[in-house]
Amino acid sequence: QEVRVFAPATVANMICGFDILGFAVDFPGDEVFMRRVAKPSVTILAIHGDDGRLPLDPDKNTVSACVKMLLNHLELADSIGVEIELTKHMPIGSGLGSSSASTVAGLFAINSLLGDPLSKEELMPFCVEGERLACGHGHADNVAPALMGGITLIRGYEPLDMISLPVPEDLVAGIVFPQVDVPTRDARQLIKEKVSLKDAVVQWGNIAGLVAGLYRSDYDLISRSMHDVLIEPTRAILIPEFYAMKEIALSCGVLSFGISGSGPSVVAISRGKEAAQQAVDKIQAHLNAHGIESLQFVSSV
Ligand code: HSE
Repeated sequence: QEVRVFAPATVANMICGFDILGFAVDFPGDEVFMRRVAKPSVTILAIHGDDGRLPLDPDKNTVSACVKMLLNHLELADSIGVEIELTKHMPIGSGLGSSSASTVAGLFAINSLLGDPLSKEELMPFCVEGERLACGHGHADNVAPALMGGITLIRGYEPLDMISLPVPEDLVAGIVFPQVDVPTRDARQLIKEKVSLKDAVVQWGNIAGLVAGLYRSDYDLISRSMHDVLIEPTRAILIPEFYAMKEIALSCGVLSFGISGSGPSVVAISRGKEAAQQAVDKIQAHLNAHGIESLQFVSSV
């Protein structure tokens, strides 16, 4: 018995919804190949595409650690054995939910090898634990869209309350990853613990406006709402040329531009592919001119 599972990259925060909104893209994503074996143990056979950065030790690797957690929960750790091969198709520490995609693929794979004892909703707490292992904090705004697809809202964390939101047909994300490493752990430590009421009012108005815009497929409202006054001003300093990239993207007619997850990837969200493609091309040219290498991905939301 074996299974191959793909889980997509995700754009957490969706610009204005820190820790509560996120969406999946079609590609890139990570792949987990998992095979049942007779000996009850969880082994990582190989990891491809990580430049040797991820641990093969099954207790330290988040994919295998989460698989073990699930087997323990189901009281199957003494009877089930699996071998895992992980293929990463996206950069680590990029702000594209790289660890989340691997964790989700691993948990989905073991669940399906076992005949789907848990629903996707029931898998979520294990995915969140994986996120905690990977970066020290159990936010769900990458794992939720990686698992459910589309756009997800985390209405609350205690208990976890996850809601899938409608995806307007023409929403496209153009992503640029400037090749600098920004670990989520570091990017979270920067953020202020306290915010002003005035900024909070702006932010929750934007979040509510974005959700309404998604329900109505109202691109104008979506565009007006996707602004972040709380997190972006602080994190932008970690991202080379952030404000120049933003100006370029907005001049191409995208609906919005901001940081993808904790960065350093940035995302231009547009109606239709053209504006997003133009924005990422021009941003890459700008980064090149400044000696910064980058990757781009353009995908439907
Ligand atoms: N919401 C999280 C953050 C996502 O912004 O830190 C991390 O990918």
